[in-house]
Amino acid sequence: MRKNLLVCLVIILNFLSCESNKPPIKAAVVSARIEASKIGIGILEKGGNAFDAMIATDLALAVCYPNAGNIGGGGFLVYRKSDGSVGSLDYREKAPLASYKDMYLDSDGNVIEGKSTIGGMAIGVPGTVAGLYEVHNKLGTLPWEELVQPAIDLATNGYIVTINQANSFSSKRNDFVNINGEETLFAKEFKPGDTVINIQLANTLKEIQKNGKSGFYNGIVAENLVSEVQKAGGIITMQDLDNYKPIWRNPIEFSYKNLKITSMGPPSSGGICLAQMMKMIEPYDISQYSHNSLESIQLMTEAERRTYADRSEYLGDSDFYPVPVSTLIDSTYLLKRMKDFNWEKATLSTNISAGPNLWNESDETTHYSIVDQYGNAVAVTTTLNASYGSKVYVENGGYFLNNEMDDFVSKPGVPNMFGLTGSIANSIEPEKRMLSSMTPTIIEKDNNLFMILGTPGGSTIITSVFQTILNAYEFNMDIQESVNASRFHHQWLPDLIVLEPDKFDSELINKLISKGYFIDEKASRIIGRVDAILVNKDGVITTGADPRGDDAAAVLR
Ligand code: DON
Repeated sequence: MRKNLLVCLVIILNFLSCESNKPPIKAAVVSARIEASKIGIGILEKGGNAFDAMIATDLALAVCYPNAGNIGGGGFLVYRKSDGSVGSLDYREKAPLASYKDMYLDSDGNVIEGKSTIGGMAIGVPGTVAGLYEVHNKLGTLPWEELVQPAIDLATNGYIVTINQANSFSSKRNDFVNINGEETLFAKEFKPGDTVINIQLANTLKEIQKNGKSGFYNGIVAENLVSEVQKAGGIITMQDLDNYKPIWRNPIEFSYKNLKITSMGPPSSGGICLAQMMKMIEPYDISQYSHNSLESIQLMTEAERRTYADRSEYLGDSDFYPVPVSTLIDSTYLLKRMKDFNWEKATLSTNISAGPNLWNESDETTHYSIVDQYGNAVAVTTTLNASYGSKVYVENGGYFLNNEMDDFVSKPGVPNMFGLTGSIANSIEPEKRMLSSMTPTIIEKDNNLFMILGTPGGSTIITSVFQTILNAYEFNMDIQESVNASRFHHQWLPDLIVLEPDKFDSELINKLISKGYFIDEKASRIIGRVDAILVNKDGVITTGADPRGDDAAAVLR
């Protein structure tokens, strides 16, 4: 017994001394798959910067994480360069030229179930390849060919199916077969430990490697895409592809105590909503209540409720609709919004309606965070929307196409896949971008880089980012604990606090119920999968990869 204890002690001491003997972390990539994180670090090892690593990591995810990593979808980049300057790139999908406001309604004006979520009509014009190529042109340092090569190698040599991934493939296999037939790559039944080799995707990536943006938006790859979309009943044309352009946009910047937070603006709601929630709780000094206590849940829920009500009414693509950005994040306005908050009684959301499909999708979007050895920081969230998007698979190209059109409002008041409702601000128009919740975020503390984070999770993205920031900053958790901590979510409608199942004790739940809150613990699923990096005041880098998935960090020392 004594001997065993001694052995254990020696092992622990050894482990601790190894950790402390390791050289400090100079750079880190945290993503949904270790293969992608390592590929990002490989680029940094070659002397590339965070933007070079972004491109290689992103394309690697398109290969080994095909439910969300993509070339057939879109995303957002938020960055902070080592000199402190910040910016953002919008490479969100767009509505096709032939789209129109009521395209998902039948002749009686009712939403046709599934039309905006599955099959050809659900697909928005993809933005990812244009976005990555734009990042390369403006901010990259290594040759494009070198950044694409690791993903080509990964597609050619294959990647190993994890347990989570085998479950994900098999849960959607029927859809793949129904939409694409029995013969496509993902109609096969993959088991954990199997290797997936995707030669078609390797060939598509070679076209992109050779011809940059036009390797995807023109020529054979584009022709295959259009023909597959049209076969699946969709309306995307060669002209849609040729017209696609990513847009550099001013990010949303706001302060919270001594933090300066930079996040994505429209067409994402992420930055504005995060600003609203943080500014609404700022006067209350939440750190006086403990993490996930009755008081902190009440305060955050009431801020979330009010924020999502505004989202529904005011937010959409600001190139098409006058989003009142500065009013929405104005401190005086937000103070007023919390005026009727009452510690004794929940504020009721009006018109309670249960979004029937609220929680039946998971793992669809993906986020990665990068800090390089030069001090540049990159936060990217990218998506096909649902898992494997529209399920339409471009067979000759080896990739899935998004179903991002569901992020538009099919009909005012009718909830989308995430239970979100909206207004004319987010109605469908040709070439308009659909409203997103993606919230890639970078935070400075006392003028130094402090946090890089983001997450998938549809409507729960913004509240997951909100909680993770507070965990680290207000509740003094390390970054891994901040990511691991149990999460909850409220989005105004339906009027429910959704809790991660079996994580919150019944006494707390009963107290919330007694104050008039409605609780949903059963119907819920994983809320967010945050991948984050924290840099402390001494410049020490730590990583938080979400244990809810296969997420993993790779580092450079
Ligand atoms: O842009 C959006 O907000 C959604 N398309 C994101 C989808 C998503 O996060 C799905 N992941 N769980």
